[in-house]
This record gives sequence, C-alpha cells and structure tokens, in this order.
Amino acid sequence: MRVAAIGDLHVQEDSIAPYRELFTEISSHADVLLLCGDLTNFGKTSEAEILAEDIKSCSIPVLGVLGNHDYECGQPEKVAEILHGAGMTVLDEQAHEIDGVGFAGVKGFMGGYGRGELAPFGEPIAKLFVDEAMNEARKLENQLRTLRTERSVAVLHYSPIVETIEGEPEAIYQYLGSQRLCDPIDRFEHVKAVVHGHAHHGTYEGRTPRGIPVYNVAQFVVKPLFGRPYALIEV
Ligand SMILES: [Fe+2]
Ligand SMILES: [Fe+2]
Repeated sequence: MRVAAIGDLHVQEDSIAPYRELFTEISSHADVLLLCGDLTNFGKTSEAEILAEDIKSCSIPVLGVLGNHDYECGQPEKVAEILHGAGMTVLDEQAHEIDGVGFAGVKGFMGGYGRGELAPFGEPIAKLFVDEAMNEARKLENQLRTLRTERSVAVLHYSPIVETIEGEPEAIYQYLGSQRLCDPIDRFEHVKAVVHGHAHHGTYEGRTPRGIPVYNVAQFVVKPLFGRPYALIEV
C-alpha cells in the first residue's frame, strides 16, 4: 500500500481551495492519504469548512488526527465533525482498517523525552499535565490492541521520539512531543511506520528504540526534501 502523509496544513479562513489541486495529485499517486494535525490555523469552523471542501476532491480514503492548533478555539469536536462530514476518518478513539492495513491515531501531547521528561509529581496541575500525555498514549495502545492486521501505521501530531524534532531549538523539545507515545508503538509487532507533524523545523526520519521508522511529515520539513509537501511511504 502506498501511503501519502502530510501534516501542518494550517488552513486559514481567507484561503481559497488551498489543497484542492494537491489532493487531486495525491489521489493519483497514493492509495491512502494521512493528515497529521494542525489542519486548521486556529480551529475555526470557517477554516475547517474550507479544508472540508478540498477533502471532497480526494478520490482515495482520507484519515488523520487533529493538532494543537485545531484546539485553539475550544471546539475540536466541531472541527472533527466538519471534516468527518467531508469523508475524512478522524482517528482518536477507534482504529480503522483499509485493505488489510490498520491505522491507529491520536493527537498525542507534550511532556519531553529521557532526562527532560516531566514526571507526574507534586502539584495537581503538574500531574494533570502528565496525565494528558498518558491518556493519549493509552488511547493509542487501545487502538493498536484492537487491530488484527499484519501491518499498521500509527498517526500522530506530536512526536514520539527526539530524532525527528532535531533542528528545533533544544529548549522547546519538551513541547514538541512525549516519549510516552513511543511505548505502545514498540509494544505491537504490526506497527510498521509512524507519521507525525508539529515540529515544523524538525528532521524527516528517525526510528523508535525497537527500530520502527518514524516520519515527521510536517509539510515544511517534507517540501525542501522532495519538492512536494507530502511524504510517500510504502507499507
Ligand atoms: Fe503546525
Ligand atoms: Fe502543532
């Protein structure tokens, strides 16, 4: 299966069919399109409606997750509903299967990696913050557990590893993802690839400790490499 993936679309309310041509092009090169969050710039319904129109020009299945920007107006469920109405499968609680390949996805959250990982200790607000990352990891694990496919792809917005955020200032690493997202990925044999966005200045490719390839498909990372804003991955 040929999977196209792109993150960080950041559709604005004054855009005119910003992805229509691209989605038509992708439809002729791939079997599935994955959208890795920050689909809108501020999570406004007007932005989601513009993207929804473009999604309708896709003739292949479209799946994906929301990003932090899609939460900005406090109505992520409304954004998801508009995109779902255009035919997109918004992954969050339930995995999806297409032609024998599984897709599990969550937005993920921040929290850091290794020595820089925030621990659930002390003030309730610090514990709540860490809980959010743990919950996202748990949702991903639950989806991966339900899949009976031999191959699957994990779809995220935040990064599960450090390698693919390298290029960003080290001082903000902990806001770009969480190592906790990596544990469920490495627990299931069937996960063959991971895609994420969010780190606009990160690195295209990395690997989990178990060796699963992770791709940062933020369009700003992919475009300079391939001359097109989307990644093509064989699964
Ligand atoms: Fe972004
Ligand atoms: Fe983001």
